[in-house]
Amino acid sequence: MLNKKIEKAINTQINVEMWSAYLYLSMAAYCHSIGQTGMARWYEVQFKEEQDHAKILFNYVIQRNGRVILSAIDTVPTEWKSILDVFESTLEHEQEITAMINNLFALTTQENDYATQSMLKWFIDEQVEEEENAQTIIDNLNIIKDNGFGIYTLDKELGARAYTQAAPLANSIL
Ligand code: FEO
Repeated sequence: MLNKKIEKAINTQINVEMWSAYLYLSMAAYCHSIGQTGMARWYEVQFKEEQDHAKILFNYVIQRNGRVILSAIDTVPTEWKSILDVFESTLEHEQEITAMINNLFALTTQENDYATQSMLKWFIDEQVEEEENAQTIIDNLNIIKDNGFGIYTLDKELGARAYTQAAPLANSIL
């Protein structure tokens, strides 16, 4: 049985992951609106990955005989100033998520909940990758600046991103 404090914190995190999915779908819509279909595709993959993150937490609460409570997903931004702005906002958002995961991890230590702590290790590693991905694209954009061929090439490259289901969901029966 899950400790109530941990259960509540994971339910909050489920909502945050769903908000992240919604945010990235909004970023995909923005990229489509400025003709960057490869970048839009990259954000559509990101949208699916965030839903996976929410589902991993959902499954875990059920597995521990806890109660999932889904709450309203807040509105998300819809406009950005530029491609660079959208990726910088992505990095900033992922840094906030990293801080939230770290706080959740710290709570499991306080509450001696080592099963939840073990489950969260996947998220700790995932956040390193999430921040690195956004940072790499920002670095590329800073080199390219407004070079049309550079933007065109990066758009093609990002459009090749493929979705793979998150590993913790692979053997899940839920
Ligand atoms: Fe669920 Fe992008 O972290």
